[in-house]
Amino acid sequence: MCGITGYIGYRDAYPIVVKGLQRLEYRGYDSAGIMMFDGETICVSKTKGKVSELEKITDLNEQAKKGNIGIGHTRWATHGVPNDVNSHPHNSMSGDLVIVHNGIIENYATLKKELISRGYSFKSDTDTEVLINLIEEVKKQEGCKLGKAVQLALTQVVGAYAIAVFDKSKPNEIIVAKLGSPIAIGIGKDNAEFFVASDASPFIEYTKDAIYLEDEEMAIIKLNKGIKVRKIHDDSLVDTKIQELQLSLEQIEKGGYDHFMLKEIHEQPKAIIDTYRGRMIPNEGIIRMAGVDDNIEKFLNADRIIIVACGTSWHAGLVAEYLFEDLARIPVEVEYASEFRYRNPIITEKDIVIAISQSGETADTLAAVKLAKSKGAFVFGICNVVGSSIARETHAGAYTHAGPEIGVASTKAFTTQITLLSLIALKLGKEKGTISKSAFHSYLQTLQLIPNKVEELLKIDEQIKYIASVYKDATNCLYLGRGFNFPVALEGALKLKEISYIHAEGYPAAEMKHGPIALIDENMPIFVIATNKGHYDKVVSNIQEIKSRSGKIIAVVTEGDVIVKEIADHVIEIPETEEAFTPLLTTVPFQLLSYHIAVMLDKNVDQPRNLAKSVTVE
Ligand code: G6P
Repeated sequence: MCGITGYIGYRDAYPIVVKGLQRLEYRGYDSAGIMMFDGETICVSKTKGKVSELEKITDLNEQAKKGNIGIGHTRWATHGVPNDVNSHPHNSMSGDLVIVHNGIIENYATLKKELISRGYSFKSDTDTEVLINLIEEVKKQEGCKLGKAVQLALTQVVGAYAIAVFDKSKPNEIIVAKLGSPIAIGIGKDNAEFFVASDASPFIEYTKDAIYLEDEEMAIIKLNKGIKVRKIHDDSLVDTKIQELQLSLEQIEKGGYDHFMLKEIHEQPKAIIDTYRGRMIPNEGIIRMAGVDDNIEKFLNADRIIIVACGTSWHAGLVAEYLFEDLARIPVEVEYASEFRYRNPIITEKDIVIAISQSGETADTLAAVKLAKSKGAFVFGICNVVGSSIARETHAGAYTHAGPEIGVASTKAFTTQITLLSLIALKLGKEKGTISKSAFHSYLQTLQLIPNKVEELLKIDEQIKYIASVYKDATNCLYLGRGFNFPVALEGALKLKEISYIHAEGYPAAEMKHGPIALIDENMPIFVIATNKGHYDKVVSNIQEIKSRSGKIIAVVTEGDVIVKEIADHVIEIPETEEAFTPLLTTVPFQLLSYHIAVMLDKNVDQPRNLAKSVTVE
């Protein structure tokens, strides 16, 4: 996920583009860059790091701020490590075309090979530099204008993009296009100026009139003339509606949601797709992941896997224990990173240590990684933040690609970590022969359907809001689950504690009778995961035990359930799926529930007291 922004008009473009980039930094901040054009000279400035680093560079160069046209980028690295060269904008080989890009060009390697055979050379490792040279090549071959060249080039591209392209020979134009990644165009008075950005926050103070491009649309923005929007594939003109922006600046930065947490809950369908995109090819029965592929022998010969993590990531690790043991038959231990490092753990060279961390910066997890390395284990990192300390410190790893998570209560990080861990477990299961070929195919097909099921689930928001209103004044809550869904019970309780400050405990449903059952009375809400696979009958018995002690039962069940419906006070239905993937669904209602309770109690949802997004102290 990256942020792109641009300006063409009568004002100085530099301050508008740079301020816009700062507002988009929530989308990534591995590197920043800007192209300015003063009517004669294209000047590109770019650097690794945040927009503040970029400003240090441009402050030293007058030319870097000159002109009424500019495009800028703040990067969340996908292809190529975050360094100065891989930063955007990227020029074409001639230097005359410039692009900023948010997304992934999946077939960039094939396109690059073809371009190299036609004499192109590349400075960076990025897919984006391939795209701008493809546009240049099409323009040359077809003898067409920039707009047509962009359109034809995009028909050759597989992947996702939001792009803004500038051509020195067309200094009154910016071309933008979208597939998968967002792009908004702000329209100034009398077409005298236009703004381009990943969301409307960079231009909200200049205009309230905006167009949001739909997938497969491109816009040719011409100064003093206007905007033409076309469908990329069939060239038809689109009758685009200008929208009046109603939102405040702050809301827009949250993409229209009241809180980052809610936005991130809603981003989960896309985040899960971004995690498996390019890695899982269900029709071909393939899972590929460089970090695992390159070390496959180590994984297959491992005596055991030790997972180290903290907080929500530790809960994802617990789900992985079920996944790896069930699908790949590898023994797994899941450790709190902080405990692991302070005892004298027995680790051998035949152990694989997997460190899970959204931020990649959690001090305890990082220290556990270093300890495991010092004992000779192979250490694999699962991080969200590209280039983070844990990602750098581990021998190999894989990114979740969930995009920046800003809300302190982790949501999409959890589901994307589980998605990634599912892919690894399935891959190892296939390689080891512990799951059959047909079961492997079927798992892949089922996993591919999860994002749509999460999307469906998000529609029950009003029902969850109602349940939240009934139980918001509870002082204690219990969350119960078994098997794959025991960790979800822990995570559900953690979410409630973190942001609403209500005491909550997660327990394996059967353990309830060994202690927590003493707490149950008519004031105690108990959230039970009772999906139809796994230990359904046993969980139903546990629910009966609660009922006979007058506890309030809120059950998460599979669509069509009849038995639990009869007993529970409320039921929340999730779509049917494989048992191994149910945590990806059962966790969503608990996220929404905590969110609504915290809002109703007027708590600071995104920045709860005493917590931090990334804990870099031990
Ligand atoms: C903090 C956050 C939690 C997070 C934990 C681990 O405590 O508040 O939401 O789960 O750190 O963070 P990590 O970045 O390592 O996943």
